[in-house]
Amino acid sequence: MRIGVLGAGNMADALAMQWARKGHDVRIGARTPEKAVALAGRVGHGAEGGTLRKAAEFGDAVLLAVTHEGVEDALRQAGPLAGRVLIDCTNPMEPPFERLKTDGGPSAARRVADLTGARVVKAFNTCPDPVWRMTPPVFGGRPLGVPLCGDDPEALAVARRLVTDLGCVPMDGGGLERAALLEAATAFLVGLWMAGEDPLTMLPPAAVVMARAPQRTSDLAG
Ligand SMILES: NC(=O)c1ccc[n+]([C@@H]2O[C@H](COP(=O)([O-])OP(=O)(O)OC[C@H]3O[C@@H](n4cnc5c(N)ncnc54)[C@H](OP(=O)(O)O)[C@@H]3O)[C@@H](O)[C@H]2O)c1
Repeated sequence: MRIGVLGAGNMADALAMQWARKGHDVRIGARTPEKAVALAGRVGHGAEGGTLRKAAEFGDAVLLAVTHEGVEDALRQAGPLAGRVLIDCTNPMEPPFERLKTDGGPSAARRVADLTGARVVKAFNTCPDPVWRMTPPVFGGRPLGVPLCGDDPEALAVARRLVTDLGCVPMDGGGLERAALLEAATAFLVGLWMAGEDPLTMLPPAAVVMARAPQRTSDLAG
């Protein structure tokens, strides 16, 4: 697959590296193209770096990996994205995680969809970049589940493949409207992590809650 990456920071670094290793063709773009070229050099496997526009034009899938504040700017520089598969990993949050930066407005993912007309899938926003660098991210013998929120079946299929290529398990998180919940849930979890808590302990096993065996992600995760 051809993957365009918008941004040359931590998330771009972590995900581009994994997908390039998996044999995908990666093109990284940044507002400072030199940073994208440098990251592409570290990624290797034929990855190239340059402008946001070149990266956006390149991809069968485009990853948006810039700060929440930079989204509008980055998308303007990326050029037309209508109809394209756009994976949004941005998080509209900051310490102390009491409210989202989108508070009272549409989710970050909805805003990206409205700004571009792209087929947006919210994904990869739930964990910090060191987790995405793990090959693969497996905890206690169970691969990491990655919730996906999106409306377009083809875009979701692309996102599922990109999740699977990390050694993770895609989870159906519902339509793009549910991205607001995913963004809020992530901010809540990150707040707990930063406070030194382990959010896993607040979640009983699905089999207990549902009074039956899990039928989706957990099945896949074995
Ligand atoms: N890091 C994580 O653990 C993590 C996990 C999940 C989700 N996320 C989300 O993923 C996104 C990227 O995070 P990150 O950690 O990779 O951030 P980062 O390392 O700070 O990199 C941010 C990127 O955004 C670019 N950027 C900032 N303002 C811009 C603008 N006005 N126009 C164009 N590009 C701009 C930066 O370009 P310059 O280098 O030129 O400033 C840089 O390439 C964020 O929305 C974050 O919330 C992060």
